[in-house]
Amino acid sequence: MPPMARVFVTRQPVGDGLERLRAAGHEVDVWAERTPPPQDVLHDRTQQADALLCMLGDRIDEDFLVANAHLKVVANYAVGVDNIDLATAAKLGIEVGNTPGVLTDATADLAFALLLAAARRLPQLQQAVLDGEWGTWTPDGFLGHDVVGATLGIVGAGRIGEAVARRAAGFGMEILRTTSRGGTPLPELLARSDFVSLHVPFTPHTRHLIDAQALQRMKPTAILINTARGAVVDTAALVDALHAGTIGGAALDVTDPEPLPPDHPLLGAPNVLVVPHVGSATPRTRAAMTDLAVDNVLAALAGEPLPHPAPAPAPAP
Ligand code: DGY
Repeated sequence: MPPMARVFVTRQPVGDGLERLRAAGHEVDVWAERTPPPQDVLHDRTQQADALLCMLGDRIDEDFLVANAHLKVVANYAVGVDNIDLATAAKLGIEVGNTPGVLTDATADLAFALLLAAARRLPQLQQAVLDGEWGTWTPDGFLGHDVVGATLGIVGAGRIGEAVARRAAGFGMEILRTTSRGGTPLPELLARSDFVSLHVPFTPHTRHLIDAQALQRMKPTAILINTARGAVVDTAALVDALHAGTIGGAALDVTDPEPLPPDHPLLGAPNVLVVPHVGSATPRTRAAMTDLAVDNVLAALAGEPLPHPAPAPAPAP
């Protein structure tokens, strides 16, 4: 039995996974608020801890890691680890874990829900009904886009991108893929796709991958779907492209910044659908994420290799 340790958990996670930490004899300190601990509180509470179980909104940067170099593990409650300075953690010998696999289907479901909702303009139609604009049925009223036979460009065909591709195949879509190892070159994929769905991790290489030039390559009817990370898209360029009609619309689970203030220009742009970073938001998925994060903490505290280690830091561009 490893000696008792202290774990700081930066929000109450879904499910009862934390009980396994307590059952192993560890002390669990949970930040009870629904908003993230301020950086100074995060720092102070982590000073007392051997392990940190944190959320994607917690900034685990170089300063934080250097000041908390005693940590055995940072277990992120997310598959994305862009909130953590992986290179510094590696230098300091702090293990970093994530929660891959268990959120693939939930996130792919949401990406496809966004695709369908944007294609058939569900937010605009709901608004029209609320505004009393539902008149008699007319042949050309409320037209959207066909999905069957349309081309879906998947940018980043890892676990989630491939799960989206499986859903799209069931809808009779033609699928193009761009990956870091090849596939359809990104400019060609952008030019040929009716829907472009982003599934790359956020790294210095993928920051603003979809910039003004990339948006310019897309069809004027194309819809951009983002369930990856907000800053993969240049938000200002997207706002301009939506106003100019360079692309047909955007359906976004992630934005830059996050959370998006209600008066942000993106929300005033035409044909944009935004939901609040809910790709993994089902009880079963979130509880499974808790289990993986707890597995990582238990392993690190027992001096064993992490079962779910984060990917190696991306080399500098
Ligand atoms: C992740 O895990 O990276 C998602 O963005 C949230 O579940």
